[in-house]
Amino acid sequence: MPWRSILLTLVIAVFIISGFFEAKPQVLKDSETYGAETLYASAAGRPEAVLTDLEVIAHRGANNFFNEHTLTAYEIASEADADSIEIDLRMTKDHELIALHDTTLDRTTTGAGVPEEFTLNEIKQFDTVAVFGQKTYKEPVPTLEEIVTAFKQEEHYYIETRLVDGETKMEEPLINLLQENDLLDPKYVSFQSFSKESLKKLQEFAPEIRSTLLYGTDKFDLEDGLEADADVIGIESRNVTKCVVDTLHQQGKEVHVFFTDERTQLVEQQRVMMYGVDGIFTDDIDFTKQVLKE
Ligand code: G3P
Ligand code: CA
Repeated sequence: MPWRSILLTLVIAVFIISGFFEAKPQVLKDSETYGAETLYASAAGRPEAVLTDLEVIAHRGANNFFNEHTLTAYEIASEADADSIEIDLRMTKDHELIALHDTTLDRTTTGAGVPEEFTLNEIKQFDTVAVFGQKTYKEPVPTLEEIVTAFKQEEHYYIETRLVDGETKMEEPLINLLQENDLLDPKYVSFQSFSKESLKKLQEFAPEIRSTLLYGTDKFDLEDGLEADADVIGIESRNVTKCVVDTLHQQGKEVHVFFTDERTQLVEQQRVMMYGVDGIFTDDIDFTKQVLKE
């Protein structure tokens, strides 16, 4: 064979082999080594990743841009076109519902102590506080009433209830507030809780509203989830496998996923999207929407 033919054959072989390897799906093993660009590229190479009906839930509002659980964080989430804004509830000493994640005011506000020991008036003396770049931002802790007054029927509110002093004290005022604001409708609201007792009480008041039973990291139990009286099962990403998703789907339950490790969240979002989960509690709305678009 003349040397030109040999060279041509070699070049063609290299093209074929490199094309073969490129077409292979990327196996994500060490999630911390992948950045956003790699993920976009990987999603683009896998058309099955396109899940246009996945619910993009703004976890604590757009908390990557502004203080979590503030009107501004919810406004940014709304403008980013998230499907739902997620609101963690706490109750004040005078039984007002406020948006606050932690059991105490310490991490996210200028105050300290447990919110149940302060009146709303006292909590309003504090501010949420967070640093973005070089700048410190402050904004009051919002009440649920202030949030729904701001967004009315233009948002879907994905509300997480908690037990107050071990009891179901916030469910009735929550239902009343939603009713007074014409929001007690599956179009506008979903409920979620780690407490089965709380969800049960909410279902008694408003059985038509979608309910999500949450499981803490490594507390998820598939048998329990399958039997749970909830439309959606909320699981931390590390406990999400394809088998878990498929089994819950077969039982008619949706799967929504939340994340507790910011270092792995983006690659974990992509991984669970591949399994066909139904909702993502995202800390980066733009990223989640971008992966869906690719
Ligand atoms: O509500 C879903 C997710 O937010 C649960 O975790 O602790 O952020 O409320 P957490
Ligand atoms: Ca939550």
